[in-house]
Amino acid sequence: MSEALVEEKYNYGVVRWFTVAAVIYLVVGTLLGVIIAGQLAWPTLNFDIPYITFGRLRPLHTNAVIFAFGGCTLFASAYYIVQRTCSVRLWSDKLAWFTFWGWNLVIISAVITLPLGYTQGKEYAELEWPIDIMIAVVWVAFTLNFIMTIVRRKCSHIYVANWFFLAMMIMVTYVHVVNSLVIPVELFKSYSIFSGVHDAMIQWWWGHNAVGFFLTAGFLGIMYYFVPKQANRPIYSYRLSVLHFWALTFGYVWLGAHHLHYTALPDWTGTLGAAISIAMIIPSWGGAINGMMTLSGAWDRLRTDYVLRFLIMSLAFYAMSTFEGPVMSARVVNALSHYTDWGIGHVHSGALGWVVMVSAGAIYHMVEKLWGREIYSKSLINLHFWVHTIGIVIYICAMWVSGIMQGLMWRAYDEYGNLVYSFAESVGAMHPYYAMRAFGGLLVVIGAVIMLYNVIMTIVKSKEPAAETTAAAV
Ligand code: HEM
Ligand code: HEM
Repeated sequence: MSEALVEEKYNYGVVRWFTVAAVIYLVVGTLLGVIIAGQLAWPTLNFDIPYITFGRLRPLHTNAVIFAFGGCTLFASAYYIVQRTCSVRLWSDKLAWFTFWGWNLVIISAVITLPLGYTQGKEYAELEWPIDIMIAVVWVAFTLNFIMTIVRRKCSHIYVANWFFLAMMIMVTYVHVVNSLVIPVELFKSYSIFSGVHDAMIQWWWGHNAVGFFLTAGFLGIMYYFVPKQANRPIYSYRLSVLHFWALTFGYVWLGAHHLHYTALPDWTGTLGAAISIAMIIPSWGGAINGMMTLSGAWDRLRTDYVLRFLIMSLAFYAMSTFEGPVMSARVVNALSHYTDWGIGHVHSGALGWVVMVSAGAIYHMVEKLWGREIYSKSLINLHFWVHTIGIVIYICAMWVSGIMQGLMWRAYDEYGNLVYSFAESVGAMHPYYAMRAFGGLLVVIGAVIMLYNVIMTIVKSKEPAAETTAAAV
C-alpha cells in the first residue's frame, strides 16, 4: 500500500506525536529519577531551594514516568493497535487530537504545580482537583474514541490486545474518579471526602490499580500485539491469552489492601488482599509464558533482532516482579519489606524492566512503520539494550541489598531488648547503595538519550528525498 493510501486509511499523525512525546518524557522522567536518587545519596544536592527539594521532585518523577512517559506510550500504541487490528481509521480525528493536547496540558500543569508544592498528598494522585477533572475528561474522550473505533471495525473478531486496553480504560476511569472525590476549598487546595482508614483503603485501591491496569493491563495489550508482530508468528496460545485476561481483570481489583498490612485496616481485609495477590502469580506467569513461548522454535532470532530482545527481556522482568510482588504481600514478608528500599527495588524491576523495556520494543517497532523507513541504527538499539539492562541490574540489586539490610537493622535488638542501631545509623549504612542506584539510573538515562537520538535520526532521514523506504508502511 502506498504511503498516501496508508495516511488516508489510518490516523498515524496523532500516533507519531504521542510516540515522540513518549521518548522525550522517558528522558526527562528518568533524569528526574537520577536527580532524586542523587539527592538521597548526597543531600546537599537539595541546595536548600524549596522547589527542587526531594519532597517536591519525587512526585514529579513518578508523574513524569508513569503518566507522561507511560501515558503517551499507551495512547500511541492503543491508537496504533486498534486501527491496525480493526482495519479501520480512528472514529474521530478531532477527539484524538483533543486527547493529545489535553494530556500534554495535564503534564505541563503537573510540571508547574508539583514544584510549587500543590499536592493532594496521595501517592500517584498528587495533582489537585482542577487537573484531576482534566485527566478524567481526556481519559473518557480516549475511551470513547477507542470503543467507537472498535464498533466500526471491519472484522468480527476483537483482538485480545484491545480487550486489555478496554479493561485499562474502564478501570482507570473508575478508580481515578472515586479516589479524586474531594471538597475543593481553593483553586489548588481540597480535602478528600473520605477520612481515616477509608481514605487509606480508597487510595491504595487506586494505587494498586494504577499498577495493575495502567502499568500492567495496558502494557500487556502492547505485549500481545507487538511480540507476535515482531516475531512474525502467531501468539503461542490464544486461549491462554483470554484466560489471562479474565483472571487478571477480576483478580487485580482486590489487591490494594496488601499495601496496608499492620494498620487500622481490619486484618481480614489484608489477608484477603494477600491471598488474592499470591493467586495472581498464576495469570501473570501464564501471560509471561504465553509471550515468551511465541518464540518457541525461533529463539535464534534473539541474536539478531534487538527489538525482539527488548520485548522478551521485558517478559522476564514481568515474570520476576509478579513473583516478587505476591511474596511481599504475605504479612510475614511485608513486616520486613514495608517502608524499606526492597519496595523501591520491586517497583523499579517492574517499571524499568517490564514497562520501559516493553515500551522500547513497541516504540522501535512503530517508528519504522510510522515513518516508513528502517530504523537509523540497529547497533544503537543493541547499545541501548545493554546499557539499559546493566543499569537496571545495578539499580535493583543495590535496592535489594539495602532494603533487606535496612529492615534487619531496624528490627535488631540487644540482650536487654534495646534497639541495636539508631535510625541515623541505618541511613548512613544506605549511602553506598544509594550511590550505586544513582549510577545504575544514569546508565538508564544514557540509554534513553540513545533511543531519542535514534528516533530523531530515523525521522530526519525519512524526510530526505532518497530515503530508503524498505520498512513497509503498512
Ligand atoms: C502479581 C503482581 C504483583 C503483586 C501481587 C504486587 C505486590 C506488591 C506489594 C505487596 C507491594 C508492597 C506494598 C507495601 O509494602 O506497601 C508492592 C509495591 C509496589 N508495586 Fe507491586 N506487585 C505486583 C506487580 C507489580 C508490577 C508488575 C509493578 C510495576 C509495573 C508493580 C509496581 C509496584 C509499585 C509502584 C509499588 C509501590 C507502591 C508504593 O508503596 O508506592 N508491582 N507490590
Ligand atoms: C533512571 C531511572 C530511574 C531512577 C534513577 C529512579 C529513581 C527513583 C527514586 C530515587 C525514587 C524514590 C525512592 C525513595 O523514595 O526511596 C523513585 C521512586 C519511584 N519511581 Fe523511579 N527511578 C527511575 C525510573 C523510573 C521509571 C521508568 C518508573 C516507572 C515507569 C519509575 C517509577 C517510580 C515509582 C512508582 C516510584 C515510587 C515508589 C514507591 O513509592 O514505592 N521510576 N525512583
